[in-house]
Amino acid sequence: MRLRALTVAATSAAALLAASSTAMAHGGPAYHPPSDSLRALAAKVGLRVGTAVTPSYLDQQAYASIAADQFSTVTPENEMKWQVVEPTRGTYDWSGADRLVQFAQQHGQLVRGHTLLWHNQLPDWLTQGVANGTISDAELRDLLHKHIVDEVTHFKGKIWQWDVANEFFANSWDPHPLPDGINGDNFWVQHLGEGIIADAFRWAHEADPHALLFYNDYNIAGEDGTNAKSDAVYNWVKKMLAEGVPIDGVGDQGHLDLQYGFPTKMRQDLQRFADLGLKVAITEADVRTFVNNATEQQPTDPLAPYAHANYYDEMLKACLAVRDCISFTVWSFGDSYSWVPGFFTGEGYADIYDVNLQPKPAYLALQEQLALAKGAPHRPGPGNRGPRH
Ligand code: XIL
Repeated sequence: MRLRALTVAATSAAALLAASSTAMAHGGPAYHPPSDSLRALAAKVGLRVGTAVTPSYLDQQAYASIAADQFSTVTPENEMKWQVVEPTRGTYDWSGADRLVQFAQQHGQLVRGHTLLWHNQLPDWLTQGVANGTISDAELRDLLHKHIVDEVTHFKGKIWQWDVANEFFANSWDPHPLPDGINGDNFWVQHLGEGIIADAFRWAHEADPHALLFYNDYNIAGEDGTNAKSDAVYNWVKKMLAEGVPIDGVGDQGHLDLQYGFPTKMRQDLQRFADLGLKVAITEADVRTFVNNATEQQPTDPLAPYAHANYYDEMLKACLAVRDCISFTVWSFGDSYSWVPGFFTGEGYADIYDVNLQPKPAYLALQEQLALAKGAPHRPGPGNRGPRH
């Protein structure tokens, strides 16, 4: 009898464990967001709505509540980048990213990992070592391999989508594009050749076979007017798939600016990536414009708030229209947290909440669009790697 009770206890403990690990991969324990929240409305069509988060800001109650209530996926804005996770060679600091992963698990959210292979935000010890010749190209390759394997392994089973490679393609203004459109001036391409991108996908896949592996870039949904960069990424991904490289998705960052027209090819561009059998996602949406100053971020053009809401709305509609567009992520949600004023002189007002964390017309536009979207194609679920591979 006692033995039986013990067996029952052990079995249910095992079941519980299994259930909790499934819950972990698919978004943690049940969390009940407000029914009119972006995440609740998006869930009706199977879409995940996400935000970039800076984990230390989660100490602020107002910030943490919005992050939890409105979004069903989170991306660490900086805390998974190489510079942050390995500030000193051989010493990892996962604290910020771990904190966000835990927050996500507590609030039924999935995590987008960002980013394993990028030319920016590399540790100083790495770039300096390469520059002064103490790190050879062969050693650089070994270091990158270790970085990718260690990071993906650390978060194994906890990441829904990884941005494996970020921003490799040349824009129209970049002076040295390679024949296939990859930027010949890219740090990684210069030292290790463009084949390094495919290797990064293979290494990430070996370390976590269930994570969805994304190529992520900007101006790849017609934002450059000509669609040339999008064409280049399309041809490259198609080639990679033919060679069996484990790429599952393409992310369009979606950093828009009201001084340029809305990229009218966005839906078609997302659809043609999807037609290759890929998932697609809007990964870093924001819409910037010129403002009075970086603190108040009042647009200088009185019509800007309308256009701002409209651009968000159109971007979301492009994603909703494509069944394999599985997530729509904004690059932070409040203007006072946005990267825009620090990176684009004179610009701001890029997010869906204002500097006081009050919802802007853009928030209401997304909410309304999601409420209307009940007729949109239902997404196929969290969609971890399926039998295709
Ligand atoms: C930005 C962050 O928002 C900033 O906080 C940081 O200082 C620089 O990087 N494309 C990307 C993101 O893929 O990682 C960048 O994030 C914005 C552009």
